[in-house]
Amino acid sequence: MEELELAENQMQQCCVKVDDSLKLDAHYWSIQYDNKTTAWDLGMASPALVHFVNSIEDKSLKILIPGCGNAHEADYLLSKGFENITLIDIAPTLVAQLKLKYAENNNINIVLGDFFELEGSFDVIIEQTFFCAISPLLRSVYAQKMYALLSESGVLAGLLFNRTFEFDGPPFGGNIQEYQSIFENAGLEVIEMAPTNMSVLPRLHSEAFFKVKKSNKPIPENTTVTNACSIK
Ligand SMILES: C[S@@+](CC[C@H](N)C(=O)[O-])C[C@H]1O[C@@H](n2cnc3c(N)ncnc32)[C@H](O)[C@@H]1O
Repeated sequence: MEELELAENQMQQCCVKVDDSLKLDAHYWSIQYDNKTTAWDLGMASPALVHFVNSIEDKSLKILIPGCGNAHEADYLLSKGFENITLIDIAPTLVAQLKLKYAENNNINIVLGDFFELEGSFDVIIEQTFFCAISPLLRSVYAQKMYALLSESGVLAGLLFNRTFEFDGPPFGGNIQEYQSIFENAGLEVIEMAPTNMSVLPRLHSEAFFKVKKSNKPIPENTTVTNACSIK
């Protein structure tokens, strides 16, 4: 009975339609890079992230960019003198290219792998079209993994789509209220989450900038389930 109630709660939290047959694995993402179907790639760091990076003074902070893609934010971080940047992506062909590109750069550590299996501790984690690329079924796990990866004073910041999409993603959309509760349920305190105008033109009025950190409050008791929408 308790399990049934829990399942119903979880279903209610999951407001995005998901096609279960779509397997968003390494193969899927590699094909997108091979076929150059990478419309998400801005070709530069997003203005909101440039603004955020400009606000960080300590260049020695340990920075993570999950689902980094072509890692334009990493180029910007390097241009600003940051020294400790980790990139992780699940797509082998992309990661092979990144390893070539940054072969001579000791400030960049590149990991081919699944974000959900990454270990470590980071002072800053940058979100850029990674959250919207994973299945919404995994959003709570994403938030819990971020909690585990953040150092005690660490910050996760970036952009989230504050809109829905007509098709059955990726990208998967959502809204600020939904995101706020996902992060809070994972023990993260939302420092900032608001619509931003610092977007590239095609994404104008559709993004929210957010910043979260580990909360001092205990994690709410009803969040023991790791996958908010795992009921098929
Ligand atoms: C929509 S793309 C965004 C890429 C990049 N952040 C950008 O904005 O150009 C999503 C990226 O996440 C990667 N990805 C998807 N699932 C992943 C996972 N579980 N672990 C690591 N990377 C993943 C994909 O290979 C892809 O490069």
